[in-house]
Amino acid sequence: MTANPKPLTRDEIESRLREEDPQQLERLFGAADAVRARHVGEAVILRGLVEISSHCKRSCAYCGLRAQNKSAVRYRMENAEIFACAERIAKLGIGTIVLQAGEDPALDRDRVAEVILGIKERTGLAVTLSLGEREDADYEAWRRAGADRYLLRFETSDPELYSRIHPRHTAPFDRFAALHRLRDMGYEIGSGVMVGIPGQTVESLARDIELFFELGLPMIGSGPYVPDPATPLGISPQPEIEDQVPADLISSLKVIALSRILRPDANIPSTTALATIAGENGRARALETGANVLMPNFTPEARRADYAIYPNKAVLCEASDHMLEGLRRDLSDIGRIPR
Ligand code: 5AD
Repeated sequence: MTANPKPLTRDEIESRLREEDPQQLERLFGAADAVRARHVGEAVILRGLVEISSHCKRSCAYCGLRAQNKSAVRYRMENAEIFACAERIAKLGIGTIVLQAGEDPALDRDRVAEVILGIKERTGLAVTLSLGEREDADYEAWRRAGADRYLLRFETSDPELYSRIHPRHTAPFDRFAALHRLRDMGYEIGSGVMVGIPGQTVESLARDIELFFELGLPMIGSGPYVPDPATPLGISPQPEIEDQVPADLISSLKVIALSRILRPDANIPSTTALATIAGENGRARALETGANVLMPNFTPEARRADYAIYPNKAVLCEASDHMLEGLRRDLSDIGRIPR
């Protein structure tokens, strides 16, 4: 909980999500951009993303890495390969590595701890983990090994929708409770939602955004839902619901803008999913609507296509020095300072 007064009520959040008037939308986006400039300045923080395993034991109805997807190619990076990525990231002057994977049982407690220790020893990079739902003993061991931050999206605050898209084969897991525990362990926590999941109402999305405030999130990552025909949610016709949130650029920008207004000091990325549906333009618009973080992809070229959480995933920025230089130039062109 934060002591600050809430900048917008849930009703106000909801009415902004429903706004369609272009002038009113420009006002909202401009207000978020001003809050961003005042609170976190012109810096764009770069974080190097490495997708260390595409194995997953879960059955999330929207995700191409779900265990039942037999067409998915599975890989798991060797430690040496991960360390080489970390060294490249550090050499390029980026301060953070983000380790992301499906829920891969082979990435066990000791294996991940070794990876964290090895990265710290070689580079001193800040380490962000995005490895899903795990036992507290895992989270604790990784924190002790030196991990700094943990990303765990709650995806939706609507419990009925949540359980429909996250079939379980094990005991229930409360992501809100986990986020609180992760914070108590000393992690900087991040969360967020997918925008426009079939069955997501504007009303529930307003509650999601209010929760970003109530949880006092220091990092908020949200992006549009991208249908994947290799998944149940992407293939079967969904019943049309009233009040469905569209999975589009404008809805995603509204969520970013409202996240910024409710959490002025948070780190908010312009996500890969947004670049996937809206291209370069999506990435830039997000940075002008409240976002202040970019996560260029440093997964080795040979693996990258196989981390297919949804089809045609944009490569936000290839890990080549050349591409990164280009990215830094683009940022300078819009008056922002890559960090
Ligand atoms: N569309 C958009 N985002 C997705 N993710 C997984 N599958 C999809 C999809 N089909 C997101 C989830 C997860 C993050 C790593 O990727 O929100 O938390």
